[in-house]
Amino acid sequence: MAIIAVAGRKGGVGKSTIVGNLAAEFAAMGRSVTVLDADPQHSMVAWAEQGDGMLSRSVEKVAVPSTLRARARKADEDTDIVLIDTPPGMPEVAYQAALAADLMLLPCGPSPLDLFALKEALSLALKARAERRSKKPRIRFVPSKVLMSTNLSRGLASSLSGMGKKVLPAIGQRVVVAEAVSQGLTVAEYAPDSPARAEFSALAKAVDKILRK
Ligand SMILES: Nc1ncnc2c1ncn2[C@@H]1O[C@H](COP(=O)(O)OP(=O)(O)OP(=O)(O)O)[C@@H](O)[C@H]1O
Ligand SMILES: [Mg+2]
Repeated sequence: MAIIAVAGRKGGVGKSTIVGNLAAEFAAMGRSVTVLDADPQHSMVAWAEQGDGMLSRSVEKVAVPSTLRARARKADEDTDIVLIDTPPGMPEVAYQAALAADLMLLPCGPSPLDLFALKEALSLALKARAERRSKKPRIRFVPSKVLMSTNLSRGLASSLSGMGKKVLPAIGQRVVVAEAVSQGLTVAEYAPDSPARAEFSALAKAVDKILRK
């Protein structure tokens, strides 16, 4: 039904966290989900192996980036939602993901430095679109690791919308998000009634709406 790639040049902005938790939210909506881990660090595999949650049944390692597109298409035939996690600082892998994806999510942290890196990710996604001669991948920004009530965070959403792409609901910086990872679980499994869960759920609903358009 849909291939979603999460990408960005900068490390540590929450790409893998968003992939894992969106996977859980789509599973909670009753969709079958495949997570393709295309990062040589294999964070998604490591996360999944910490426990026996939904990720342990959903994550597949992609060791050879040139096979990513074919793997994504195959997974798209077999499951409803395919999520691709990409590495930081490896534009060739992110580009392969952009060539395969229906939707590209570009997370951005609250620092101005995150915004500079985001511009590169955006131009990479636009280049893939030009090569495909298509409106795909659609592109959305996701404010990530946001300290919800700070000035920096309030400024982020408006800086992002100034970059010409729509901004999805923000994900806050919350302890429970990292705690879930240490248990090998997603927030939906570890803390289903938490504010963090509500944020990932809102993000997934917004993504789902885009996919249905
Ligand atoms: N919303 C959040 N709240 C709290 N901690 C978070 C949140 N998102 C991510 N983190 C933590 O920040 C760190 C980096 O997150 P993550 O691994 O998801 O980023 P990444 O962009 O995938 O990193 P990389 O570029 O290395 O692949 C991790 O320790 C993760 O647990
Ligand atoms: Mg990662």
